[in-house]
Amino acid sequence: MAKIVGGFGTSHTPLMSIPGNLWETYAQNDPRNRELILVPSGKRATYDELLTTADPRIKDMVNEETFIQRADNIQKGLDEVQRRFGEVNPDVVVMIGDDQSEWFFDDNMPTINVYWGESVKLLPRPITPNMNEANKISALAYGSVERDYPVDSALGLHLIESLMDQDFDIAHSHYQKEAYGGSIGPATWYLDMQRSTEPRPFGIPHAFGFPIARWFDGKSPPIVPVTINTCYPPNWISARRAYALGQGIRRAVEQWDSDKRVAIACSGGLSHFVVDEELDRIALKGLTEANGEILSSLPRHRLQSATTETLNWVTVAGAMAGTSMERMEVITYEPCYRTPAGTGCGSACGVWL
Ligand SMILES: [Fe+2]
Repeated sequence: MAKIVGGFGTSHTPLMSIPGNLWETYAQNDPRNRELILVPSGKRATYDELLTTADPRIKDMVNEETFIQRADNIQKGLDEVQRRFGEVNPDVVVMIGDDQSEWFFDDNMPTINVYWGESVKLLPRPITPNMNEANKISALAYGSVERDYPVDSALGLHLIESLMDQDFDIAHSHYQKEAYGGSIGPATWYLDMQRSTEPRPFGIPHAFGFPIARWFDGKSPPIVPVTINTCYPPNWISARRAYALGQGIRRAVEQWDSDKRVAIACSGGLSHFVVDEELDRIALKGLTEANGEILSSLPRHRLQSATTETLNWVTVAGAMAGTSMERMEVITYEPCYRTPAGTGCGSACGVWL
């Protein structure tokens, strides 16, 4: 039977790729961001509203010296995850990620989707002449080379069948479309606006592209992309369900009639686009102590917008629970405040080995 040989997770925010001296440029977009959240109420707020209520100590962390220090630590953390991934050298990787207006829109939004085509297209994001350096670097961090990346279609099919047997209602994708587009929102919770995307060719979503491009150590093990809807109400996944899904994935992998060595991986989170350091530390406690109770009860009202990507980690933790590697080791955690309003990202790297 197949064996789980390790777990890997990192954030994938642009701050994981942009050098510290460009964080200020990148942060100039923040006042226009319509997904800003007040901490800890989880209510949507404008940048100016955040600014008036933010902890005054935050502004002491918003300077180039701190940005450079944090960006350097992040790169060291990513290098370490890359090194460990290379050492484990798995035969196949089950990847947990979310989709942010990439393949899925409100015409048909799956809560849990497994992709099981023979391969998946990796398409670099378009670079336009008017993009600043920070945006260019961040765009290329999700993949800079067009290619067909291998998928373990047999494991994908097995995951779908096994999870269906375990009472998970799984959506599936067996091929990619020529173009993806549509609209998201308005819905409930923080999502009181609509975002529309003209149909365009789109490769594998960013949550999968970032690990492949940044820390797969130049290797190309086949993957199985499992997408969970963390970001978009009303059918966004709960923390409890995300954890249970991970447990279901572990059972499925361990019952797979194969001698392959399987890694579980994710990217995304932690809190953003407003840093919620307290919530990040609760999640990290749950991850490092392998405490399913904490992870399954992360408070919904604080899990808004892209902070919900923390649930990608919760699913990996569910998959690692019950193996001999259930406690995550934190390699890096940086609460990356990039403006005095507290916008930014809780940036993390971790491994289960
Ligand atoms: Fe994301």
